[in-house]
Amino acid sequence: MTSLEPHSQIIAAAALLRAGGVVAFPTETVYGLGADISSPSAVRRLFEIKKRPVNHPLIVHFAGSSHLQRWAQEVPEQAWQLAEYFWPGPLTLILRRSRHVPESVTGGQDTVGLRVPDHPVALALLNALGPEKVLAAPSANRFGRISPTTAAHVQEELGKSVDMILDGGPCRVGLESTIVGFDGEMAVILRPGGIPLPALAEVLKGRVVLSGQEKRAVRVPGALKSHYAPETPLELWHSELLSHRALELGTKGLRIVIIAWSDRQMDHAENKNIAHFPMPAEPAAYGRLLYGTLRRFDQERFDRLLVEAPPDKPGWMAIADRLQRASCAAQRDD
Ligand code: TXA
Ligand code: MG
Repeated sequence: MTSLEPHSQIIAAAALLRAGGVVAFPTETVYGLGADISSPSAVRRLFEIKKRPVNHPLIVHFAGSSHLQRWAQEVPEQAWQLAEYFWPGPLTLILRRSRHVPESVTGGQDTVGLRVPDHPVALALLNALGPEKVLAAPSANRFGRISPTTAAHVQEELGKSVDMILDGGPCRVGLESTIVGFDGEMAVILRPGGIPLPALAEVLKGRVVLSGQEKRAVRVPGALKSHYAPETPLELWHSELLSHRALELGTKGLRIVIIAWSDRQMDHAENKNIAHFPMPAEPAAYGRLLYGTLRRFDQERFDRLLVEAPPDKPGWMAIADRLQRASCAAQRDD
């Protein structure tokens, strides 16, 4: 894969977007599917291509925090602090939308999600569009499926329906941005992601909490239980039970792959139905590989993916969240 698209490709992509086209582009988190927010037909196409319900809001992407003033209003001091510290980067801020943001983008809510992606191709594309134009960009996958972390993933899933795919190589983070809203002076994590909670807490002097499912006041479709799911049923098991479960299914004749981060000995070695795929024991490296790994094993047509539950540590929060949702989607009988 090329590490950077040639300038001419970026100019061509910007021209397509200005004409109301839909272009997939790389970010540091996952690939996005971009449309100019001022083109109602282009925004409508995003929803159609993804098969996403139209009341689910989109994140607006731009090239620098100076844009905050145009697209949001009543921006709290904490939001400015986070923008200054983490942008460009894997952080989305949910703020009161300004009158410039079309309702089609916000799903009728009075808030808008805003983010500055940290990828040279994304930034070059946004800059090539000019100062007045910004991009609505959901992850470039069908609704409820795994986000793409390479241009090839986008090509496989949406290739025929998009106008262009910019290839910026594999995504560095591999999981979506952390989404943060505000409740008075308190920052609330609505979706764990590329920026871990302790990093936010350090900048905000501790004033950040993780939104409890039950307290969630805003709708976050990424928070639907069955989001981010592979086609193959996925089960999440604690380290001690993983091997036992694999043997139980393997001896019934099911083809199993164990996806594990720890190097503990497994006692299933001689069962030919059971494959073992080692993952990194460090969260940044694990996060980068996760979605690509799930896609790969989906294609290899295993009957079941058995994933070792990640460590219960703050750095693993986004990974634990995505695996939990993927396993909820896949719950079925043996
Ligand atoms: O890393 C990312 O955030 C990627 C890249 C492409 O930037 N984008 C992404 O977009 O993950 P999407 O559409 O797949 O997920 C955006 C999430 C959704 O769960 C949506 O509900 C939430 O952001 N969201 C957007 N605007 C919101 C708002 N005003 N209030 C609450 N949630 C919002
Ligand atoms: Mg998505």
